[in-house]
Amino acid sequence: MQTRTLGKNGPIVSALGLGCMGMSEFYGQRDDAESIATIDHALDRGVTMLDTADMYGPFINEELVGNAIKGRRDQVFLATKFGLVRDASDPTKRGVNGRPEYVRASCDGSLKRLGVDHIDLYYQHRVDANVPIEETVGAMADLVAAGKVRYLGLSEASAQNIERASKVHTITALQSELSLWTRDPEENGVLDACRKLGIALVAYSPLGRGFLTGAITKVDDFDADDFRRGNPRFQGENFARNLQLVKQVQLLAQEKGCTPAQLALAWVLAQGSDIVPIPGTKRRSRLDENLDALDVHLSKDELDSIERIFPVSAVAGERYAPAGMAHVNK
Ligand SMILES: NC(=O)c1ccc[n+]([C@@H]2O[C@H](COP(=O)([O-])OP(=O)(O)OC[C@H]3O[C@@H](n4cnc5c(N)ncnc54)[C@H](OP(=O)(O)O)[C@@H]3O)[C@@H](O)[C@H]2O)c1
Repeated sequence: MQTRTLGKNGPIVSALGLGCMGMSEFYGQRDDAESIATIDHALDRGVTMLDTADMYGPFINEELVGNAIKGRRDQVFLATKFGLVRDASDPTKRGVNGRPEYVRASCDGSLKRLGVDHIDLYYQHRVDANVPIEETVGAMADLVAAGKVRYLGLSEASAQNIERASKVHTITALQSELSLWTRDPEENGVLDACRKLGIALVAYSPLGRGFLTGAITKVDDFDADDFRRGNPRFQGENFARNLQLVKQVQLLAQEKGCTPAQLALAWVLAQGSDIVPIPGTKRRSRLDENLDALDVHLSKDELDSIERIFPVSAVAGERYAPAGMAHVNK
């Protein structure tokens, strides 16, 4: 397995991690047996970084991951997150909580559900606009001192908040959406801030929530509660326009002799050795396909032609609905 270093002098992890979110929620039917087999297979193939969060499920994704890694804890670099609070009466609603007492209680809850005595990488899932980030990260630093957490991360934080947080404790990773159709970290100063401070960028939804693989051709194929139905990029005219872009990705992949999913992942991997994509799948066959992207190397000419064919300005629609956009890049 190829590896990458997470942050300056940080831990070494597999160059591709495994996103576990979709195993429990958001992207269609659950299949816990296949999901557990997928995590098992990922570890067999040398994947170390598993990504979950307390709000996935909510809570049941951490339990699933905890069950899957029983007996193999030492092979796993376990990442989870706190701070996005679900509303029991409406599964689509989100609150944000970065208060120190909430940080402490969330960590204890995650440790219990995961069945572990420490979390390798603990992220603040979204920055709480009502709590100075120094207070939240101060509480996270106490968790490191207590041995409950090894490394700290932020997700969807702005460059300014990343800098402020770094003054309180070393931030090892910043998790943000990065893919052929989402380049925010490259455009809003986040990637520059990470590079200045020696922080790795963990790229979530590197397959564009499955869209960039070419496997999604109709919104009607989604279950009624699929998260993507509410995502502007998957709606109406936007969907049709984005599908044209994916057709270009399919052509490029054909020329390269790889699959569109592999091309999309190879593109993210090529953006820098400090970037670790965490594609999500609940199926062993797709895991194998995605991991084989590590053998797809894009030349400068190929990267240039991808840029020409798929300029980020061509993407139609925001990456979240307005309520979700309100919490990102903060
Ligand atoms: N920090 C944050 O706010 C945040 C937000 C979103 C996600 N994340 C993390 O990032 C991880 C990855 O992101 P993601 O799951 O949203 O999106 P993604 O990795 O871009 O795409 C996942 C989707 O693509 C499908 N897929 C995977 N490999 C495929 C292949 N080779 N061919 C066709 N379809 C394929 C999966 O379906 P199957 O499962 O059916 O294969 C799933 O529906 C998540 O699991 C989560 O841990 C973090």
